[in-house]
Amino acid sequence: MVADSQAIQTRQLSKVYPGFFKSQQVPALTELNLRVDQGQIFGLLGPNGSGKTTTIKLLLGLINPTSGDALVMGQPAGDQETRRRIGYLPEESYLYRFLNARQTLDFYARLFNMNRAERRRAVDYYLDFVGLDPSVRGRRIGTYSKGQTRRVALAQALLNNPDLIIMDEPTSGLDPVGMLEIKNMIMRLKEAGKTVLLSSHQLADVEDVCDRLVILYRGRIELEGALRDLLEKKDVFQLSARNVSDALQAKLTQIAEQEGATEVRTGRARVRLEDLFKELVARKRSGELR
Ligand SMILES: Nc1ncnc2c1ncn2[C@@H]1O[C@H](COP(=O)(O)OP(=O)(O)O)[C@@H](O)[C@H]1O
Ligand SMILES: [Mg+2]
Repeated sequence: MVADSQAIQTRQLSKVYPGFFKSQQVPALTELNLRVDQGQIFGLLGPNGSGKTTTIKLLLGLINPTSGDALVMGQPAGDQETRRRIGYLPEESYLYRFLNARQTLDFYARLFNMNRAERRRAVDYYLDFVGLDPSVRGRRIGTYSKGQTRRVALAQALLNNPDLIIMDEPTSGLDPVGMLEIKNMIMRLKEAGKTVLLSSHQLADVEDVCDRLVILYRGRIELEGALRDLLEKKDVFQLSARNVSDALQAKLTQIAEQEGATEVRTGRARVRLEDLFKELVARKRSGELR
């Protein structure tokens, strides 16, 4: 038995997609050992084709492994009862273009056997949660922007109040502000005690939210660890301050070198272009800029 604190555990999980000839077989995932604790935000990172979607499909029981196994909340992947406790945001969502956001969620809420009052409450609650502009909720989804469509898909994944949410490329196609909003949503899910497994090929997208992550490359784990440890340059110390005169800068550099520090560098702190963009949009929205 697996302790219930483990949301996901895979053992030597492998997938080879069949091909007509042996040379056409694709080893998409090779002996993956993954452990995700409950309440964690776990990042499954890697370039395109590295096996992220394959991993997710195996965890959901949508495809079968070639060898190895996967437990999700202590049960074999694909278990029907467990499936009810999982929310899934697919890489591409297939929503009905002619339904609006409310109708779409209402349709899925019916599948969860919610009564009318429950449905209405849940639909509005989750559309609020994902921040879908109320003025578009009655418009058909075919007219939505990519960001709006992604939000509806996410609301759908959350509708049954799952304990584990699996998101395949949640931020793909979103602008930096949309990305930031998705990150904030993920943080709120964590605060609510949920476990989140998310995949991304754009590492910066998920940098601030993951507790732990693995980086896949050609179906194998290349790097694994706590985000904080992975990003910290343990042998480099950094000092940052305002109102530093040229003289003080020179003095600090001199002291550092005298005391045996090497590769001493000083200079102006820089912001990332992405942060600049986000700040600009935020100020614009708050009406400060015109
Ligand atoms: N149904 C399939 N049949 C054959 N090969 C596949 C299939 N699905 C994915 N692959 C291959 O498996 C590898 C991993 O794909 P995938 O898991 O989708 O990667 P990622 O989600 O990281 O981009 C790729 O080489 C891809 O071409
Ligand atoms: Mg994928």
